[in-house]
Amino acid sequence: MSKSAFANRVMDWYDRHKRDLPWRHTRDPYKIWLSEIILQQTRVAQGLPYYLAFVARYATVKELAAAPQDEVLRLWQGLGYYSRARNLHACAKEVVNEYGGKFPGSYQELLKLPGVGSYTAAAIASFVYDEPVAVVDGNVFRVLARVFGIEQDIASPAGKKFFFEKANALISEDKPGIFNQAVMEFGALHCTPKNPACNSCPLAQMCVANQQNLQAHLPVKLARTKVRTRYLYYFVIRKGTQLYLRKRSPGDIWNGLYDFYMWEESKPTTMQQLFKKHNITVRVDRVSDEYKHILSHQKLVARFIEPAEINTVLQKQFKAAGLKLYSKKQIEQLPKPVLISRFLQDAGYLQ
Ligand code: ADE
Repeated sequence: MSKSAFANRVMDWYDRHKRDLPWRHTRDPYKIWLSEIILQQTRVAQGLPYYLAFVARYATVKELAAAPQDEVLRLWQGLGYYSRARNLHACAKEVVNEYGGKFPGSYQELLKLPGVGSYTAAAIASFVYDEPVAVVDGNVFRVLARVFGIEQDIASPAGKKFFFEKANALISEDKPGIFNQAVMEFGALHCTPKNPACNSCPLAQMCVANQQNLQAHLPVKLARTKVRTRYLYYFVIRKGTQLYLRKRSPGDIWNGLYDFYMWEESKPTTMQQLFKKHNITVRVDRVSDEYKHILSHQKLVARFIEPAEINTVLQKQFKAAGLKLYSKKQIEQLPKPVLISRFLQDAGYLQ
C-alpha cells in the first residue's frame, strides 16, 4: 500500500467517525498538553471529566502553575500515576518561569519540558503547530502492526523505534495533526484489541493481519513486568472526630498524597503476628476486611486497624512518623490514594 493510500483512508475514516471531544476544538497548546497528559494510560471516558475539571479550575497554564500542589493532586485523585500530576504541575511552572507562559513551538523544545516525552511532544507539535512528527501510542502500535504485518516487540526499545520510524514515514505532511489523531482514533474505535471491525474496514484489502488472520497475534508484546503484592496494615487513629494522617514522601508510591500510619509485610499476617513482630500489645477495636487495590506493577492488600487505645510505644512511633490531626472537612480536601478514600467512605468518615 502506498504511503498516501494509508493516510487518505484513515483520515477519511476519521472524518466520518471521529468522536466530538473538547480538545479537538482548540489549538491552545495548554489544553492540548493537558488533555494528552491526562489521556496517557487513561481511557477517554475516564479522562474526560478530569480534563473538564482542570480547564474549569485553571483556564491557563499560569493559573495551573500558581495553584497549590495539594489542590492539583486532589483534582487528579482517582487517575493514578501521581507522578504525572506532579510533573504536570512542574511543567506548568516551567512554562511560566522559563518560557513566559507560552509553550515552546517545536517538538525538540517541547521534549525538554518535565513529564513531556516523545508522545506528548509529538501530539502538541503536530496538533497545534502542524509539525510532521508522528504520535505513537498503544493504538498506533496496533494499527501499524496489523496493517503492515509488523512482528517487532512493542515493549522493546528497538521495536518502539521501528514503529516510530514507520509512523513518521507514513505521516501526512499536509495535515500531520489530523493524521495522528486519525490513526489513534481508528485504533481506539475500529481496529480494537478484541473483535476488530475487519468486515467494515477501509484498510481490509491491504491489511496483512486481515489477510493472514493474525489480528489476535498482532501487535507482539513480549516484556512482562512482574506484579509484586504488598500487604499494608494501616492504623486509623482518631481524636474526637479528627484523624491522624501523614503526607507520603518521595521514594515509594503516592509521593505527596496523604495516608495513615502503616506497617508493611510481604505476606498476609494476623494481628497477633503483626503485634508480636513489632513487639507491642495493642487492644484493637476493629479491623477492616481486606481492601485490594491494583497499581501498574503492584497489588496492594490493605487492612485498617482501629486501636482501642494508644499506648506509649505506639504513641512514640506515631510521633516519629510525622502524623498530624485533620478535621473531616480538611480530609475531604486532601489528596488521598483511592484506597484510603474507599476506606474512609466505607467507615463513614467521608460522605
Ligand atoms: N488518547 C490519547 N490522546 C487522545 C486524543 N487526543 N483523542 C482521543 N483519545 C486520545
